[in-house]
Amino acid sequence: MATEKTFYLETFGCQMNAHDSEKVIGTLEQQGHRQVDAEEDASLILYNTCSIRDKAEQKVFHRLNDYKALHKAGKRFGVLGCVAQQEGEKIFERAPYVSLVSGSASYRKLPEMLARLEAGETRITGLDDRQTDETFETEFTARQNPYRGYITIIEGCDKFCAYCVVPYTRGKERSRTSTSVLEEARRIADLGYSEIQLLGQNVNSYRDPEGKRSFAELLAVVAEVPGIRRVRFTTSHPRDFTRDIVEAIDAVPALCDHVHLPVQSGSAKVLKLMAREYTPEWYLERIGWIKAARRPISITTDIIVGFPGETPEDFIQTMDLLAEVQYDGVFGFKYSPRPNTPALVMIDSIPDAEKAQRLQVLLDRQREIQRSNYAKHLGEVMEVMVEGFNPARGQVVSRSSQNKPVNFTSSQPIAPAPGSYCRVKITATHPNSLVGEAI
Ligand code: SAH
Ligand code: SF4
Ligand code: F3S
Repeated sequence: MATEKTFYLETFGCQMNAHDSEKVIGTLEQQGHRQVDAEEDASLILYNTCSIRDKAEQKVFHRLNDYKALHKAGKRFGVLGCVAQQEGEKIFERAPYVSLVSGSASYRKLPEMLARLEAGETRITGLDDRQTDETFETEFTARQNPYRGYITIIEGCDKFCAYCVVPYTRGKERSRTSTSVLEEARRIADLGYSEIQLLGQNVNSYRDPEGKRSFAELLAVVAEVPGIRRVRFTTSHPRDFTRDIVEAIDAVPALCDHVHLPVQSGSAKVLKLMAREYTPEWYLERIGWIKAARRPISITTDIIVGFPGETPEDFIQTMDLLAEVQYDGVFGFKYSPRPNTPALVMIDSIPDAEKAQRLQVLLDRQREIQRSNYAKHLGEVMEVMVEGFNPARGQVVSRSSQNKPVNFTSSQPIAPAPGSYCRVKITATHPNSLVGEAI
């Protein structure tokens, strides 16, 4: 009797990686493999990895090390994603029990790589040299999220910010045709999803290879697919953020009231060193467009503190920008030197303790901004989409159009299912969540 082909897959990193894993799982299942929940039960152990910051990368190697004993039990290991692309064949030296190393730009070759693995090959690579124009599209996507359907519309990155690994790990920027995106949106609606999230490292850098639709036009047509009630998109890059995106949100109700627009720094000098290719003024002009919309569009961002050359004065400019924009959410990071990146040759002279302190100051200030932003929702009645139920607290877990977490109680005997919509009155607010009652 042939042994059953089973695999375990663990995913690190961003939403693009999470969605890649849904496509990888579907591809493996199509090839006759079955997903299991524990490493011990799998014949193939896969890690879909992230290398955006040093800590993310270390986590992967620790995990490989923790489970290497399983190799003796006859299990095979594969490393996928950004660490795979970044480290390439060096992974075989560092972890000789690994048989497969593949970056995301090679996943469309997975069936072939799996066949070689089964034939007993031990050093299989799928590595990209920033040449491929192809995207990874499959009809077999094994959607794991119960309430949100992801669609990658653009892969890779051509921006080459000085600190960032993504242009090296994800290949060159390439978009799918808007026809194929729209077909996938219809398939997602047919599956019963009402929320779609369009994904791209810079989602708004989208360029339709067919030349049919701009990014804003694509947003509008996806949001008009019958059955779709919410469309989100992430991450937007300030350089490609055009006014018609705001106009689309104003015009099309199913587009959510939220834009994630990473700024990274409030200092013109630091932005220049980072090669972001915009100034704080340019960025703030776009924020002005978003704030002038008829709908209340929530704005969130990413910030890096302690980039080489960031003086205390530069950091104060970031704090000033925070005060000016009044974000609804900030992902703050300490600068982490990364392999292959141009910033590696800049002198990273800011001690870790100083970076940590700047980050703490930033997050403390942001918490107060959010406390007052979130407090403005007190008494408001809003539509939320249910994501789950927290039995310990007896609360339904949900999200507003603005992407704010809303935890609410309901007088119904059974909690509403993930993906359903409720009207909720907000009765209390916190800096990171709203509390309410179903009405
Ligand atoms: N394409 C998006 C960001 C993708 S990476 C954009 O350009 O806005 C997600 C976030 O990770 C970045 O916005 C940045 O804040 C952070 N990041 C990327 N490289 C980093 C590094 N070397 N050190 C610290 N943070 C980093
Ligand atoms: Fe990285 Fe910059 Fe590309 Fe964003 S735009 S993924 S930060 S290189
Ligand atoms: Fe990480 Fe790669 Fe995403 S580095 S953040 S998994 S693009």
